[in-house]
Amino acid sequence: MEYSFSKSLDALKSSAVREILKLTQGSSVISFSGGLPAEEFFPVAEMKEAFNRVFSQEKKALQYGLTDGYIPLREWIIGRMKQKNMHVGLDNMILTTGSQQVLDLLSRVYLDPGDCVLMENPSYLAAIQLFQSRGVRMIGVEADADGMDLDDLQAKIAAYRPKMVYVVPTFSNPTGKAWSLERRLGLLRICRENNVLILEDDPYGELRFDDSSAAYPTIFSLDEHPNGSAVVYTSTFSKIVAPAVRTGWAMGDVNIIQAMVRAKQAVDLHSSSLDQMGLHELLTHFDLDSHIAKIRKEYRERKEMMHHLLTQQGWEEITWNAPKGGMFFWVELPEDVDAEQLLPYAVKEGVAFVPGAPFYVDTPKRNTLRINFTHADRETMMLGVERFARAVNAYCGQAVR
Ligand SMILES: Cc1ncc(COP(=O)(O)O)c(C=O)c1O
Repeated sequence: MEYSFSKSLDALKSSAVREILKLTQGSSVISFSGGLPAEEFFPVAEMKEAFNRVFSQEKKALQYGLTDGYIPLREWIIGRMKQKNMHVGLDNMILTTGSQQVLDLLSRVYLDPGDCVLMENPSYLAAIQLFQSRGVRMIGVEADADGMDLDDLQAKIAAYRPKMVYVVPTFSNPTGKAWSLERRLGLLRICRENNVLILEDDPYGELRFDDSSAAYPTIFSLDEHPNGSAVVYTSTFSKIVAPAVRTGWAMGDVNIIQAMVRAKQAVDLHSSSLDQMGLHELLTHFDLDSHIAKIRKEYRERKEMMHHLLTQQGWEEITWNAPKGGMFFWVELPEDVDAEQLLPYAVKEGVAFVPGAPFYVDTPKRNTLRINFTHADRETMMLGVERFARAVNAYCGQAVR
């Protein structure tokens, strides 16, 4: 048999970096590469009890469910979103297999091959892969620590007539930055004026290290909503409960959400109703806010420790950001150092990170890399940074002093 794969598969070709990182799985290599939560904080016992309660409903728990998701969980999320000034009805929201599926479903119903999407640059790697596989043209918008440059956004809207802007405005992946209120409002105003839809991807918004939640209102909450909104908002339980429940959601205008429901029917009928029921049982018997407070405290301490360990190395020409939340440090090596070339040295020493180049939609800054600080416990982190330092010193030598 001669197989004849689709053109879209070309965009999903495995990269050298992914192959190297695959080698590190299940080995003794310490991984700072994934956006992984700390396993010690998974609510295992509470989850077990929740699923036991689901199974006490016997057969009902194992039946097909609704495409847009288990209603009690949707109602629970709607209640929580209200506290963030995001008011939607059941018809304005869909449960999905992680927020990753929101990106996929919205692309299916809103974008055709050749359409243009503006995005931050660097941006979320799996969004880039997804848009690429759909034949969507991606254009990066200039940005600084406060978010997208609004003049460049205006200019690129005029030049490329995009259908959508994709943003991760709160503790972004990969750079960890949080947009200022002014940039959030500016993006919204400009997109409204030009009829460009905003996809606001918000997996990390709850993981802030201080209490200034008011400083980071979601863009969705700043718009009129839900119907007629310029924003489709997505978030997930992956980073605040556990990724394995594969439960995310989207909220937006009823016509967009209902189109996504139709697309989802064709993709997978519905996400696991068992997971959605288990999650709902968990959430109604569990104090999610104090759980999140615990994780935030721990992640802040891990971030500070990672910062301290990196600072101790005394590298003058290596810099990184100071994230106010989320999971990542974005590191810049000296200009002439290629992080992809550094990676094999690091893996040989027993530590992995993700080189920055694949996060760019156009010419990459090859001297960048992303480090996760939430997954490794303190001891592992110390060892990991020691190994990273050995790799940097071996590969870069005096260049970093
Ligand atoms: C920016 C961003 N969006 C979406 C996702 C997908 O999350 P999930 O599908 O687990 O909800 C991730 C995961 O790391 C992410 O970093």
